[in-house]
Amino acid sequence: MTVLLSVDALTKAYSSAGRQIAALDNVSLAIGSGETLGLVGASGSGKSTLSRVLLRLLEPDSGSIRFAGQDWRALRGAALRRSRARMQMVFQDPLGAFNPLASVASVLDDPLRIHGIADKRRRPAEIATLLERVGLPPAFASRPVRTLSGGQRQRVAIARAIATRPSLLVLDEAVSALDVTVRGRILELLVELQRERGLAYLFISHDLAVVRAISHRVAVMDAGRIVEEGPAADVVNAPQSDAARRLVAAVPRLVTESV
Ligand SMILES: Nc1ncnc2c1ncn2[C@@H]1O[C@H](COP(=O)(O)OP(=O)(O)O)[C@@H](O)[C@H]1O
Ligand SMILES: [Mg+2]
Repeated sequence: MTVLLSVDALTKAYSSAGRQIAALDNVSLAIGSGETLGLVGASGSGKSTLSRVLLRLLEPDSGSIRFAGQDWRALRGAALRRSRARMQMVFQDPLGAFNPLASVASVLDDPLRIHGIADKRRRPAEIATLLERVGLPPAFASRPVRTLSGGQRQRVAIARAIATRPSLLVLDEAVSALDVTVRGRILELLVELQRERGLAYLFISHDLAVVRAISHRVAVMDAGRIVEEGPAADVVNAPQSDAARRLVAAVPRLVTESV
């Protein structure tokens, strides 16, 4: 497997009320093309800080990131804007950040326009194709975002994320707000897209059951550090760290039932 992303010794501290919080403490990991790495950890363990650093929304204090053969932290300006198309994110209710009156079409038009994926005449057809791909009827294009259910919004968010033909999606608590049935369907969609397009995922959640359901490998984060990493089944069946044991204990059915 080709290494798509490799992160080495990332460190990030926040200062808050005169105290230093080590949100990332020497974090290293790698993801291969087409692979899903699950990142699981309790609330406050540093998962979202890592996702924001990867997406270049937050500068780390030190460490290096190689993505798609590039020194990711060194990219600036036009080169960074171009490369951003290759790493996209889906988080919990990303459409909540949009004007609630915005239509689904306008949400999907943005990345197509900004990254020059399709010219103006071709964009409505491209939007219809994206909607179809995530299991929504083309007529959804004219719907205001606020009229969509949680699961439908997450489908639009996934369509938006794949619009630029990325090689990596960072999914940060992307299914955490959804009920179990809807969550299962979204996970199925993600697996299909991965199979079709060779997409890699960094799939982040506080819930080990969800992470286990979709990940090839799982990394466990605790207080800013990766404390354990291995095949998903090993981490669930034979957790080595206290943090992993706590996460397994939080989902009592996990060991006996597959999700
Ligand atoms: N902007 C910030 N300022 C100060 N502390 C922060 C900030 N963002 C996160 N933190 C702290 O950093 C730690 C990691 O947070 P976060 O990355 O959000 O963890 P997770 O996503 O695993 O819940 C927590 O202790 C959190 O309180
Ligand atoms: Mg978080």
